[in-house]
Amino acid sequence: MKSKVIVALDFSSEQRVMDFVERISPELCGLKVGKELFTALGPRIVEVLVEKGFSVFLDLKYHDIPNTVERACAAARNLGVWMVNVHALGGSEMIAAARRGVGMESDRPLLTAVTVLTSMDAAALRAIGIDVAPETLVKKLAGLAQSSGADGVVCSANETRELTSILGTKFIKVTPGIRPLGVSNDDQKRVMSPIKAIKEGANYLVIGRPIIQAEDPVGVLTRVIDDITGVA
Ligand code: C5P
Repeated sequence: MKSKVIVALDFSSEQRVMDFVERISPELCGLKVGKELFTALGPRIVEVLVEKGFSVFLDLKYHDIPNTVERACAAARNLGVWMVNVHALGGSEMIAAARRGVGMESDRPLLTAVTVLTSMDAAALRAIGIDVAPETLVKKLAGLAQSSGADGVVCSANETRELTSILGTKFIKVTPGIRPLGVSNDDQKRVMSPIKAIKEGANYLVIGRPIIQAEDPVGVLTRVIDDITGVA
């Protein structure tokens, strides 16, 4: 995947997906298929996008016993996805099983892990019996993901710099919560502009509503790409 932008296809109708996808090319961006689209349309939509040449990030955040996650990751690999993810909270054994599931080939899917959902704060963690600051838990789970064989993490752009310093530049950081300047934050609480996120060390930016709900989605997408081109 050459582009650093992944567009979140948060739609539930094939028509809306196709209206957008037919106006862009695989060189421009990757595409994220999440729980809404996958549940509504099933794996066929992934196959259609892969057949069109797009790099597909299957964002189903697997969290189950190791054997189940391994088999789900193998099924994702068979669909031809470019990236798949798990919840790091599933533990080391589960992440290692996911890594076995995606396989060892050079064209295998990348495996990323979600650390702490950005919707959870300290109080929400305490309520489920985790009495640790979210930032501490993010670092712990990112380290666990790396040592268990994941290629990277899905994290807030606010966390990328510190995670890079601890885990190195090769460990991938995929960051949602990106908002081009002048665009609504929607329900995202901690947002960052595309340029700033890349400067902070994000490898891939996940952007949904600012693009897919825009009057001119392709215009917004190309503007974001122009903005970050050349930014290291
Ligand atoms: O519309 P927006 O740009 O906020 O979309 C962000 C996408 O990234 C959504 O598909 C959302 O589910 C996903 N995501 C997120 N925060 C995370 C993990 C995934 O917003 N921590």
